[in-house]
Amino acid sequence: VLGTVLFRKKNRPQSEKRIEIFTKLYYNVKYLRRKAGKIMEKTYYLTTPIYYPSGKFHIGTAYTTVLADTIKRYKKLKGYETYLLTGTDEHGQKIEEVAKKQNMKPQEYVDGAAKAAKELWKLMDINYDDFIRTTEGRHEKVVQKIFDRLMDQGDIYKGEYEGWYCVPCESYFTKTQLVDGKCPDCGREVKLMKEECYFFNMKKYAPRLLKYYEEHPDFIKPDYRKTEMINNFIKPGLEDLCVTRTTFDWGIKVPKDPKHVIYVWLDALTNYITALGYMSDDDTLFKKYWPADLHLIGKDIIRFHTIYWPIFLMALDLPLPKQVFGHPWLLQGDGKMSKSKGNVLYADELVDFFGVDAVRYFVLHEMPFENDGVISWELMVERLNSDLANTLGNLVNRTVSMTNKYFGGTVEDKGVVEDVDAELKAVVENASKAVDAKMADLRVADAITEIFNLFKRCNKYIDETTPWVLGKDESKKDRLSTVLWNLIQSISEGARLLESFMPSTSKKILEQLGNGHVTEKPEILFQRMDLEEVMKKVEELHPKVEEKKEEEAVIDIEPKDEITFEQFGAMQFQVGEIIACEAVKKSKKLLCSQVKVGSQVKQIVSGIKAHYTPEEMVGKKVMVLVNLKPAKLAGVLSEGMLLCAEDAEGNLALMTPEKEMPAGAEIC
Ligand code: MSP
Repeated sequence: VLGTVLFRKKNRPQSEKRIEIFTKLYYNVKYLRRKAGKIMEKTYYLTTPIYYPSGKFHIGTAYTTVLADTIKRYKKLKGYETYLLTGTDEHGQKIEEVAKKQNMKPQEYVDGAAKAAKELWKLMDINYDDFIRTTEGRHEKVVQKIFDRLMDQGDIYKGEYEGWYCVPCESYFTKTQLVDGKCPDCGREVKLMKEECYFFNMKKYAPRLLKYYEEHPDFIKPDYRKTEMINNFIKPGLEDLCVTRTTFDWGIKVPKDPKHVIYVWLDALTNYITALGYMSDDDTLFKKYWPADLHLIGKDIIRFHTIYWPIFLMALDLPLPKQVFGHPWLLQGDGKMSKSKGNVLYADELVDFFGVDAVRYFVLHEMPFENDGVISWELMVERLNSDLANTLGNLVNRTVSMTNKYFGGTVEDKGVVEDVDAELKAVVENASKAVDAKMADLRVADAITEIFNLFKRCNKYIDETTPWVLGKDESKKDRLSTVLWNLIQSISEGARLLESFMPSTSKKILEQLGNGHVTEKPEILFQRMDLEEVMKKVEELHPKVEEKKEEEAVIDIEPKDEITFEQFGAMQFQVGEIIACEAVKKSKKLLCSQVKVGSQVKQIVSGIKAHYTPEEMVGKKVMVLVNLKPAKLAGVLSEGMLLCAEDAEGNLALMTPEKEMPAGAEIC
């Protein structure tokens, strides 16, 4: 009751003490309700980002939701009452423009796109509990209430945004950001403009946010992302955030000043609580599930989820989500996906080609924990043939066929044990613990690998016990029965573990094995595919736009004096991973990157702004000269050099390892 009083009362001064008391109370009340049987023993609320509406999702964007579905299913099997939220983020200038280009009203456009998203999630076997659209009344009304409350308590205030405006770039700059008085992006004239705007008081909350990070070491995962947030955004000083716009119309109106629409991130982030009925007539779900156990997002939107969102929640006196996990990106093998190259991997097309569980396997298995993952048609066909058709499909098929051939479909444990059995059993018994441990850390790719190790061990067991030899000898019949029984038990355990990752495959295997009474005719789980045929079909589906082939140019450069091996050896090169990057203020040419080299992070300034955007830099593995004496460039410290190739026109290309290599690997 006290919790509710503290929580509901408006216009109270915000004090840290009060928040602390409230949070404690909140958990105590939740605990008591749980004890009284009002809510289930264990709940697990996880969310995906709400997606920008689009007619067709590429496989990278679908990854987050497949991952979320897998985690949800896993938690459910572990006895949690789970709730998975997804949806669409439907406001903002970009949407307004896309709709206009297609001669549609924005609402019409987002209606179609939200429908497409729901269809895709169905196709991908995503078991979500709610799909929220930010244009729904239940969301819009509450966002307005939240805005009003934040205004009333003084966290949002009206001010003026003043700055140097570049019309073509639609961007404001401060005086110090200008280069020779002109736009630092396009070099054109800028004009001093003022715009009325509502600001959110971010500055006030920065110390409390830092303290929260400190006291909750698991709040941001992977760990190095937290360092990135602190060093790049919080320590340099948080600016108050302009949370309204007047330059377009497609958004939620500020209740008392409707020429302003609410900033799309303030609108979008609150979906995580509006969907649960926060500030509505029925907030049962909110009481049951908030705070979220996990916000699952891609690495590009970590800042919004670990700085703005927690601060908005603090201002609303609400407990913060327990964890935000920013996963890396899934990239296409031959570079950036682009429509003109015809190499975009669309989620629905992949499902048509390979089937839903194969696609789930590819994305979950290929995405590492910290670095970006890469997939391509070649890799998918390879994985399909080797892991799915061979290791798994063949194993099930052989086991069912042999059980039918030698025992008419039914085997039992005859107790004829040999030493090899113990080894198989140990692997099987350990698998579930190993998968649990990986899933607890959200190392989903490793968890799925553990399960496939079990299947590989079963294949090895077949090689070791050679059932076809036992089958020829009547006196070995009981041993053969035990061998097949052991196989069926082990594969069944693997199939049960596989349920969260590949639900329908798991079901199919268990149906075929039926605890010792196998099906008459085994169904082929995965058909092998021929890469050439696949590529032919892909080409038909997405004809490549003809690229003019010019004769490849060569370049001669001025030769330097010879050096000795010692001179060469004095230079130390390593692979570095760019984990953050931003433009150097006051400079037209320089980008400043944070580069992970082994366990260190180096700050390196490079003259490549004309060739790469900061967003393109992040995630790249590059060649770094690490023992170059540190120097300041445009006032910014640089602790090494990124190596590039340069053509005759001065175009630069970063040197990257040809195969996947860990950050820190020596280049020698
Ligand atoms: N609408 C915002 C999120 C608002 S959440 C309150 C948004 N939408 S998005 O459609 O652009 O992206 C949805 C998710 O897909 C994000 O988590 C993003 O990081 C992720 N991905 C986009 N491209 C991706 C890959 N290539 N690989 C993996 N995830 C990727 O951001």
